[in-house]
Amino acid sequence: MSMDAVHPRVLAFLGRALSLELTAVQQYMTQASLLEHWGDQDAANRFREETVEEMQHAERIVKHMLSLGVAPAASQLQPVTHAPDLLGLLEQNAVLENQLIAHYAEATRFCKLLRDQSNEAFFQSLWDEEQHHGEELNAWLRELGGPRRHGYARYGAPRAPRSRATF
Ligand SMILES: [Fe+2]
Ligand SMILES: [Fe+2]
Repeated sequence: MSMDAVHPRVLAFLGRALSLELTAVQQYMTQASLLEHWGDQDAANRFREETVEEMQHAERIVKHMLSLGVAPAASQLQPVTHAPDLLGLLEQNAVLENQLIAHYAEATRFCKLLRDQSNEAFFQSLWDEEQHHGEELNAWLRELGGPRRHGYARYGAPRAPRSRATF
C-alpha cells in the first residue's frame, strides 16, 4: 500500500497503539522491579516476560509505521499505576490490558469498514494476542482469589460507583 492510501485515522490508531504498548512496557518493567524489591522473584520474572512481549508489540507497530512511510511517535505515555500488593498490581494491569483490547477492537472494525485489509489484519493479530494476554492475566488474578470488589477503595482513591468498581 502506498503512503497516501493510508487513512489518517488508521495512522492515529497506530500512534495510540504505540503509546499504549509503551505504557505497558513502562508499567510492567516498573512492577517487575517492585516485585523483586518485595522479594517475590517468581512474579517479578513473569512481569519481566510480559515487559518483553509488550516491547515486541511496540516494535511491530514501529516497523509497520515505517513500512507505511510514517515516523513512529508515541506521545501519550500514561503514568505507572501503583498498588500495595501483587493482586492490586494485577488488577491495575487488567485495566490497561482492557484498554489495549478495546483499542484494537475499534481499530480492526474501522479498517474493516474502510476495506483496508492489510491494516485490518495487522490490528486483528494484535487484538487476538491482547485478548489472550487478558485471559492469562484474569486466570492469574483468579488463582490469587481476585479480582477484589471495590479494590480502589483500599488504596485511598475516591470510591467509584458500584457498577464501575469491580472491573
Ligand atoms: Fe501488547
Ligand atoms: Fe498485553
